[in-house]
Amino acid sequence: MSEKNFYLTTPIYYVNDKPHIGHAYTTILGDVLSRCHRLLGDPVHFLTGTDEHGQKVERAAQKNNTDPLTHCDTYVKRFQELWQRLNISNDDFIRTTQGRHVTVVQKILQDLWDRKLIYQSNYEGNYCVACERYFTDKDLKDGCCPDCGRKVDTLVEKNYFFKMSAFQQQLIDHINAHPDFIRPVNRRQETLGFLKQPLDDLCISRSKARLSWGIELPFDKDYVTYVWFDALVNYISAVGYLADDASFSKWWPANFHLIGKDILTTHAVYWSTMLMAMDLPLPQTIFAHGWWLVSGDKMSKSTGNVVNPMDMADKYGVDSLRYFLMAAMSLGQDANFSEESFVVKYNADLANNLGNLLSRMTTMVVKNFDGKLPAMGESTPAEAELADACKKAAESWENAIKNMQLDRGIADIMAACAATNRYFDAMKPWSMAKAGDTAGLARVLRSTAEALRVISGLLYPVMPTKMEEMRKSIGIADDQLVPSMANLGEWNLLQDGAVVTPVPGSLFPRIKFEANA
Ligand code: ME8
Ligand code: MG
Repeated sequence: MSEKNFYLTTPIYYVNDKPHIGHAYTTILGDVLSRCHRLLGDPVHFLTGTDEHGQKVERAAQKNNTDPLTHCDTYVKRFQELWQRLNISNDDFIRTTQGRHVTVVQKILQDLWDRKLIYQSNYEGNYCVACERYFTDKDLKDGCCPDCGRKVDTLVEKNYFFKMSAFQQQLIDHINAHPDFIRPVNRRQETLGFLKQPLDDLCISRSKARLSWGIELPFDKDYVTYVWFDALVNYISAVGYLADDASFSKWWPANFHLIGKDILTTHAVYWSTMLMAMDLPLPQTIFAHGWWLVSGDKMSKSTGNVVNPMDMADKYGVDSLRYFLMAAMSLGQDANFSEESFVVKYNADLANNLGNLLSRMTTMVVKNFDGKLPAMGESTPAEAELADACKKAAESWENAIKNMQLDRGIADIMAACAATNRYFDAMKPWSMAKAGDTAGLARVLRSTAEALRVISGLLYPVMPTKMEEMRKSIGIADDQLVPSMANLGEWNLLQDGAVVTPVPGSLFPRIKFEANA
């Protein structure tokens, strides 16, 4: 793999779930990171998709009197339409029902069977239908599923097992030798803690008598494979494992598997040992973020507190939603979602701090310089200070991406914006205009425009549409609306005489929060 190729994945979401703000979050985060790397000039492959096999889909299809694939075809659109609406720049979308995926899963199963890494045995234990997972007695919480709390079924049946236990020590060694493999560090500790117990082998089959909607085991037609053994393979089937060597060696191993903390074990343990069994390198980083909560609770259909990202985008705009989700969650921790805090942050950061400054600067350029961006002229220490604040914001953003602290990086960009507002207010360009100080006025408006150029470039991956509008407004040429990260921290790059056009109304009009009755 060349040093800079960047391959990032999101989980593939269960196709019959209605996408909510949590799914939108992971996918937007993946999009922001992918866009950052594209701006750095890295070749990027950004993958998302849907997980379409399993009991829940089979049952939902039965309930709707349709076959499972037709059911999936209908439901997958909800995700695809949402990603389009949220301006997600994924390079590929994998569905586990696609032939390119099914073939690879079956080849892997056959190979592991041939090499005796999959074997047949009797399974006795507990099964949660909702989670589609088997649990040992000690896994259960008060006799119920430790994940969803529902009652589990008791089963005894012939099954097939993946020799996961054979890779336990190898996995522990890998985690210890690669501090960036599982992030953040508390998730790494959690996985190491989990690996202190002897690792069981993994039951990877489901009898067709109970479930037929899955990928058939190539060595036993009465069984399909366990949905996780199928789903995890998407990360390699999508980039051409066993099908397109050039593509596969270009992208694998992935740089980032982005996931929520709910699916840490399946990724850090199941997937890692599966890859070891296949003799494939492990991904560079599995990054597990926290939960979006609503009033401190997990979102769930039964409590009816699920936030619909489509509604939020319709009400407040796509880029504002992207901004809020990235700015308001510290990666790795849980965060609370409320419409009120959304509106408060929108008004403070986007309407007052950023949008208002753009509108003040552009209006004054129109009024005093006929809409042509004035040259900088002689600078004073105040401009040097401002340039420095912008450069620091650019550095901070670069570190934020590297360290997965986007909220902090965004806060630093907003601090640079606040510094620009202070500069603008302290310089009183309106008094300069009155006093006929054209040189001073030019310097202040140009410096403010330069600061906004840097800020709009930094925030571009978060709010691509709004930042493009902003860059157009300050006179950046059409072929440079997409910024390059290379020169963002530099000063005085705008074109003298460029045409400055205020955004009609405002780029981020203030909004009033109206609590739903
Ligand atoms: O688990 N806050 O799919 P899934 C933040 N198909 N993120 C959330 C969230 C919340 N409240 N709720 C969900 C599956 N997510 C499997 C994955 S991968 C090979 C197979 C996000 O539809 C988060 O990324 O249940 C979480 O890991 C994912 O959605 C689970 O999506
Ligand atoms: Mg889930």
